[in-house]
Amino acid sequence: MTPDSPALAVRRLVRWFRAEGPDLPWRRTRDHWAILVSEVMLQATPVSRVLPFYEAWMERWPRPADLADVPVGDAISAWQGLGYPRRARNLHAAAHQVARDGWPTPDRYEDLPGVGRYTADALRCFADEMPVLPEDVNVTRVVARRFPGGWPGAPRGRAWDAGQAMMDLGREFCRARAPRCDDGCPLRTGCPAADAGVVDEVTPRTRRQAPYEGSMRQRRGVLLRSLAEDGTARVAIDPEAAASLVAEGLADRKGAVLVPAGREG
Ligand code: ADE
Repeated sequence: MTPDSPALAVRRLVRWFRAEGPDLPWRRTRDHWAILVSEVMLQATPVSRVLPFYEAWMERWPRPADLADVPVGDAISAWQGLGYPRRARNLHAAAHQVARDGWPTPDRYEDLPGVGRYTADALRCFADEMPVLPEDVNVTRVVARRFPGGWPGAPRGRAWDAGQAMMDLGREFCRARAPRCDDGCPLRTGCPAADAGVVDEVTPRTRRQAPYEGSMRQRRGVLLRSLAEDGTARVAIDPEAAASLVAEGLADRKGAVLVPAGREG
């Protein structure tokens, strides 16, 4: 291993993580359900916002069978405040599948509703400790900047630490904008992008999110909030948004009002 080899950089990263990585609740477990819930929540929502939702969710539905037992509307209401409620519907469907069939083998995690390559890799790495790197947008960016030749892999038995470390690095140092290269980044030594002064240039472009104000997301959010808080929402408030929620199975219609999805009667 040469002094600046990528493999050595990963060793430094793991050492940094083991000394300084934050102790997050989903890091104290290898339980598949806990990991799945946390990763789905973290997909589009920052850690600080996820924390109280994750704790409440796992206390209420500690196993897939617990969530499978309640109507999907309960999951959607509990999701209120996290955004992108389709994720709650997918988790509910995944809970059903696992309660009925058990967990798929790691090569079949993508068979679970809402589970794509990233989430499946996160389960493989963070629940099974398999040697794969889950690449979300943050991790993809770190790899592009720091390991242009590709992820070199983690030392044996350290894939879990390396994966978690890459998450933290992408959030705390190797940020999309205003990266903190010279502010203690544990991968700064030998970083090709920082050394060449091309950090911005080698950053993969991501689509900018459309403005929330006035969007269909916001309009649907108004109805979903009313559903979560009052158990009902008048369709007349916004018939178009109401129809789109019903079409996606995120609410049911009963006459002139929306009601939480999946509650018979
Ligand atoms: N973002 C996505 N997965 C994460 C994890 N396991 N820890 C911290 N942030 C994350």
